[in-house]
Amino acid sequence: MAELVLLGGGGHARSILAALRAEGRPVRGHLAPQPGDLGEACPYLGDDDVLSTFDPEEVLFVNALGSTSSTAVRRVLYERAVALGFRAARVVHPRAFVDSGARLAEGVQVLAGAIVNVGAVVEENVLINSGSVVEHDALIGAHSHVSPGAIIAGGTRIGAGAHVGLGARVIQGVTVGSGSVVGAGAVVIDDVPSGAVVVGVPAREIGSGKKGRA
Ligand SMILES: CC(C)(COP(=O)(O)OP(=O)(O)OC[C@H]1O[C@@H](n2cnc3c(N)ncnc32)[C@H](O)[C@@H]1OP(=O)(O)O)[C@@H](O)C(=O)NCCC(=O)NCCS
Repeated sequence: MAELVLLGGGGHARSILAALRAEGRPVRGHLAPQPGDLGEACPYLGDDDVLSTFDPEEVLFVNALGSTSSTAVRRVLYERAVALGFRAARVVHPRAFVDSGARLAEGVQVLAGAIVNVGAVVEENVLINSGSVVEHDALIGAHSHVSPGAIIAGGTRIGAGAHVGLGARVIQGVTVGSGSVVGAGAVVIDDVPSGAVVVGVPAREIGSGKKGRA
């Protein structure tokens, strides 16, 4: 079984490590600008450049960087590792539910308590965070983040690189454009344009974001 190298050493890395431990998967360590607090089971191996010294036949990488609004940095990290010839591990916490009729691409992460229902398609490098729900036949575009407790209704389309905030709801059939941000607690009842930031109930656009967003 290939060893896993985590890219990142912060809070999301700790959640990922918990999932990997629960799955019983071998972890070589983590790469980050500075050492993270991940314990002896996941030692610090150096900064991101060290990845290129590893053999892509021997290790898979795990994108262990989280996001609080923009998903851009997670995407850059992922694409850089892929460009070096590495493949991303899929991580599914044993206490998540993924229906056998759902499709998860490479690098998808489904954390504890999350549900991915029948017919859902989850593209590469998507983070389905703890306790969130992706209902039947929803499409979650590459590099997106469905934050803890968010609910994506059946048949919804979430564009690439979108961030759906903590506890937000997206009702059935809506399209959330690529690179958009749905604020924490929002209820999205209409399509969201690409690159927009929407908040509230019902969700209304507040612009294209400022602090904390790339
Ligand atoms: C939507 C969000 C990205 C906006 O961030 P921002 O661009 O920095 O915006 P600001 O904090 O400057 O707020 C701008 C306005 O929107 C309001 N606002 C911000 N977030 C809001 C939210 N989630 N719900 C309702 N209103 C919100 C602010 O009160 C402010 O209103 P005002 O202009 O009347 O004072 C951010 O607040 C958010 O909800 N992020 C998601 C966090 C998350 O999901 N984290 C996951 C961790 S795993």
